[in-house]
Amino acid sequence: MTRKFAVAIDGPSGAGKSTVAKAAAGRLGLLYVDTGAMYRAIGLAVLRRGLSEDDTAGIESVLPELSVTLRHGAEGQRVLLNGEDVSEQIRTGTVAQYASKCSAAPAVRSFLLETQRALAREHGVIMDGRDIGTVILPDAEVKIFLTASVEARAQRRYRELTERGEAVALEGVRADIERRDRQDTTRAIAPLRQAEDAVLLDTSSLGLTQAVEAVLAIISEKTGVQA
Ligand code: DC
Repeated sequence: MTRKFAVAIDGPSGAGKSTVAKAAAGRLGLLYVDTGAMYRAIGLAVLRRGLSEDDTAGIESVLPELSVTLRHGAEGQRVLLNGEDVSEQIRTGTVAQYASKCSAAPAVRSFLLETQRALAREHGVIMDGRDIGTVILPDAEVKIFLTASVEARAQRRYRELTERGEAVALEGVRADIERRDRQDTTRAIAPLRQAEDAVLLDTSSLGLTQAVEAVLAIISEKTGVQA
């Protein structure tokens, strides 16, 4: 019987956090929690209301009307915005940019904090985001900072978007990644940074299988639990 524990995976956009975390969670029987999806749901709500991504007061005023919940089932994690499954609608570049801007608002961060902590109290989790090891789960048994070069991240995101049929140019994807890196690392509250006790894993030259194995090796070293 494996003991319940928490794995925090943080890192910049496009480092492969969600793909790697999902696969590792499946291997270990842990719940995979993608916290970025929650920020994206708020970004989508703000976009739908026609607000500017820079309208912090407007963004904060919308929060009382929103409920953002995660549902975990056979089909993986689904994100619900006021009960509507928006898991697909949140995967666009525009929503990502809105999510990044909304996530700098202190009220947005505190709005989501307790839901995220509650999930880790109730389940063994692999939770990915930007501030999981530093703010949300500072006592997580395993902390990993998963990163990759801007070039590698841009290539991966470009492939992902074109496979989904989005008409994008590599240069534009790279510029979006650089802009989000800047926003996510320089905001005043819970900026993206490596926790002091996190293990750094650079996936620039790793394939998916190798990255998953590397994550499983770190988890095994820290907890003694083998996949
Ligand atoms: O991981 P992602 O690309 O789906 O996240 C979308 C945005 O949400 C990202 O640019 C920053 C924000 N975010 C955050 O601030 N904190 C988290 N724990 C997860 C995401």
